[in-house]
Amino acid sequence: LDNGLARTPQMGWNDWNSFGCNVNDGLIRQTADAMVSSGMAAAGYTYVNIDDCWSTKSRNASGDLVPDPQKFPNGIKALADYVHSKGLKLGIYSSAGTTTCAGYPASLGYERRDAALWASWGIDYLKYDNCGDHRGMNGQQRYTAMRDALAATGRPILYSLCNWGQESVWTWGMPVGNSWRNTGDIAANWNSIMGILDQQVGKESYAGPGGWNDPDMLEVGVGGVTGTEGRAHFSLWSLLNAPLIAGNDLRTMSADTRTILTNTEVIAVNQDWGGRQGHKISDSGDLEVWRKPMKDGSVAVVLLNRGTSAASVSTTTTALGLGSASSYSVRDLWAHTTSSSTGTISATVPGHGAAMYVVTGGGIVQPTTVAIKGVGSGR
Ligand code: GLA
Repeated sequence: LDNGLARTPQMGWNDWNSFGCNVNDGLIRQTADAMVSSGMAAAGYTYVNIDDCWSTKSRNASGDLVPDPQKFPNGIKALADYVHSKGLKLGIYSSAGTTTCAGYPASLGYERRDAALWASWGIDYLKYDNCGDHRGMNGQQRYTAMRDALAATGRPILYSLCNWGQESVWTWGMPVGNSWRNTGDIAANWNSIMGILDQQVGKESYAGPGGWNDPDMLEVGVGGVTGTEGRAHFSLWSLLNAPLIAGNDLRTMSADTRTILTNTEVIAVNQDWGGRQGHKISDSGDLEVWRKPMKDGSVAVVLLNRGTSAASVSTTTTALGLGSASSYSVRDLWAHTTSSSTGTISATVPGHGAAMYVVTGGGIVQPTTVAIKGVGSGR
């Protein structure tokens, strides 16, 4: 969407994965504080996003949504002011239907009214879900109506579509939103993360500056996701140019989780645009290789081991699309070390783990800039 936002994938946090409906003013303020004190804000995270369950169960007499007075006794505008005072931005949630997924009033038919209310509060981001009755309208119509309502407010509001990949949203998402969920909900376990990864194959040619494929929010540091799994998840989501929306409790995260989420070398790959989203180039049983061309002519690579025991995963500079050179520089983005290679890139990767490198040398010889597919070109 050509609204000036998300020219690189958005970065932030959302309460849903760890708190579900238990959202409130204190949680959001403390999370904003933690985003700054943990170093996440310095690493690029900006948006603090409220998900479902923030309102009362019905609109007021004038037809407006009302923040739940128990959860948000100061209202949302005061909360937005607080988040802004930390140098961060505040996001809110609704649905392109009659109700949200948790059964609260939603925005179908109220697009202009709700967008104007959020803008008056100082909202900077909308996650727009797909629950409730659709009144016979298709997704493109319902999501476009909110795009236009947000634009009419005159306030820059990042627009995140959440229709779970229905109606092949990636084929029409670019002129409508800044990102689009392309699968069902992620859960805090390895199988869920891998299942979503598999559904990214073939979608890479629809994304670019202003509009990104969204494989859902991060589960790093949530539930039973281990540090090794979290590093693989973060490596892959970064390579995919996915929105990096942390889903863990920032107030209590472990040092390991914080180190993963603030790995600025990995984040730099996420925020780089070399003309094409990261994509899978080989798949041999549990061992996969994913690459992404970088703007400076290097290639980022993830070596993934989906199995349960350690295995050697390898690729070559030719397979990565690099030209010939007598020696390549190989930067390990997790060990933060640099070595050299004559053409083979390999690692012993733990089970449910990944290695991630940026390989430089020879220049990119494979075509990297692909025409963005999909309906319309406005982005
Ligand atoms: C849907 C979305 C989730 C979350 C919940 C809230 O399931 O996909 O990300 O927003 O609704 O109810």
